[in-house]
Amino acid sequence: MRVPIIAGNWKMHKLPDEAQALCQELVGSLDEYEDREIVVFPPFTALASSAKVLKGTNIALGAQNMFHEANGAYTGEVAPPMLVALGVKYVILGHSERRQHFAETDEIVNKKIKAALNHGLVPIVCVGETAAQREAGTTESVVNKQIRAAFDGMDRQVAQGVIVAYEPIWAIGTGKTATSREANRVIGVIRSTLQDIYGETAADIRILYGGSVNADNAAELMKQPEIDGALVGGASLDAESFARIVQYDD
Ligand code: 13P
Repeated sequence: MRVPIIAGNWKMHKLPDEAQALCQELVGSLDEYEDREIVVFPPFTALASSAKVLKGTNIALGAQNMFHEANGAYTGEVAPPMLVALGVKYVILGHSERRQHFAETDEIVNKKIKAALNHGLVPIVCVGETAAQREAGTTESVVNKQIRAAFDGMDRQVAQGVIVAYEPIWAIGTGKTATSREANRVIGVIRSTLQDIYGETAADIRILYGGSVNADNAAELMKQPEIDGALVGGASLDAESFARIVQYDD
């Protein structure tokens, strides 16, 4: 059974106080949901204040990125043990915004995934095609290449601990969601690639959809058999709208 996950990526939003207040509101309205994983991803500077509120609750803490080395002369970077020490459990890796604006390559993403797993963090690895790639009909080959590179050199047991997020780039922050059928289809393609690499283990790997998920479309997306959860951007910045997404089946 793949436990559903609703994750809120706050991106570069919320000061420490604002993050704490948002966490407080979420804790208040979501405490009875034990059958799904709920995770929020505040910016690095708001992890500590958020952790204070989330500790001991059913809402887990995640980080939006990290470096792959455990320490060293890497000015400006954040190491996995630094996240662990703050109570972080999940980390988003290879988000398209990092690939696009910060030159993250498939190789870097692969190193980061392995480092996260080595330090006991659960990586959520993002893949997805651009609008141009979609129009050119290359969606499947693009995401399959990203998946094979992300999981390169990783054995079956380790791979089971990785979560994938399919985030078509043209759907991020645009209000243009992939139809639930299309999202389900591409996620099915990703799962077949994983099956090709890992056999039956692929059935245990959770794959989320991200890209303009909101309270109105979450239920329909979550009904799809291949979609195991949502990685929500904009709609996770407001407590009520994120709570409604978490309550997608109410
Ligand atoms: P939006 O929900 O704002 O489209 O962002 C999606 C996303 O990038 C989540 O990681």
